[in-house]
Amino acid sequence: MKERLNEIKEEALEQIQSAVDEKTLQDVRVYFLGKKGQITEVLKGMGKLSKEERPVIGQLANQIRDEISEALETKKTKLEQAALEQQLEEEAVDVTLPGRPVQAGGPHLLRKVIREIEDLFTSMGYSVAEGPEVETDFYNFESLNLPKNHPARDMQDTFFITKELLMRTQTSPVQARTLRKHEGQGPVKIICPGKVYRRDTDDATHSHQFTQIEGLYVDENIRMSDLKGTLNVFAKHMFGEDRAIRLRPSFFPFTEPSVEMDISCKICQGEGCSVCKGSGWIEILGAGMVHPNVLEMAGFDSNQYKGFAFGMGPERIAMLKYGVEDIRHFYTNDIRFLKQFHGV
Ligand code: PHE
Repeated sequence: MKERLNEIKEEALEQIQSAVDEKTLQDVRVYFLGKKGQITEVLKGMGKLSKEERPVIGQLANQIRDEISEALETKKTKLEQAALEQQLEEEAVDVTLPGRPVQAGGPHLLRKVIREIEDLFTSMGYSVAEGPEVETDFYNFESLNLPKNHPARDMQDTFFITKELLMRTQTSPVQARTLRKHEGQGPVKIICPGKVYRRDTDDATHSHQFTQIEGLYVDENIRMSDLKGTLNVFAKHMFGEDRAIRLRPSFFPFTEPSVEMDISCKICQGEGCSVCKGSGWIEILGAGMVHPNVLEMAGFDSNQYKGFAFGMGPERIAMLKYGVEDIRHFYTNDIRFLKQFHGV
């Protein structure tokens, strides 16, 4: 029996040694140490042994059982370690590989230009005022000195929703709304950025929807020279210190006198080229002294208060500043177009 037990031990240790996975180890354990295993099998013959031999064999069997158990444990740990090492190797990250580039977005060119203009005017003490894009006929036209059936309404054909509601054609209604809120008390110093709508046919320079920034400064003793000085600062800030401005007489129902502002052409320095159509000047915005009727309708005493107002299209400013040749580029969201202006 001793011999058989020793044989079992040898066999078991050998199988444990060559086992390649935990499943095999489990099978080995059952085969040798299990209830119906090899050792139990041998011990069944104990009955035939003498009293003296029994404890000796029993002890040996226990010892061998312990040895096999221990060998199983050791091997199990070894297999686990090997598995872990293999996993680590397989899942290793090569930190020297170049990373996948992250596609970072950026503000739209139009948004940037609007912010730049807002920053300039807020630095001069203006606050930003906003209003509804669906506007009443009263605020969009009447309060701006454009009574019903006034022929100057034809300059701004729009989308009416009802007889009294329309998509605003300009952000000037925000000026009228803000003036009213001040109940005849100046100063009022605001810029009004926002989307506006006109029933225009879309082409390279027209769009049925575009953006505007209008400005309004109402206080005692505001004069035309204040308007000119402000616009001069604006033009030089946006287009460069070497740009000159020029004011031409024009007409808007809500300002009197009204002007159109031009800046000197950057391309030809005033000589005349195809960009400025030979004139040396490029028109960029409309402005004027707030019409007394507008002030009075909003509850201001037009003898005490004067004001100036101006309005511009950020699209046009952006097109001139960055050489964009078609207004539709701003709205069609072609990434190739938009990407060019990341970081400008
Ligand atoms: N609201 C005018 C327009 O849309 C621009 C403007 C604003 C002109 C303020 C004068 C004063 O054309």
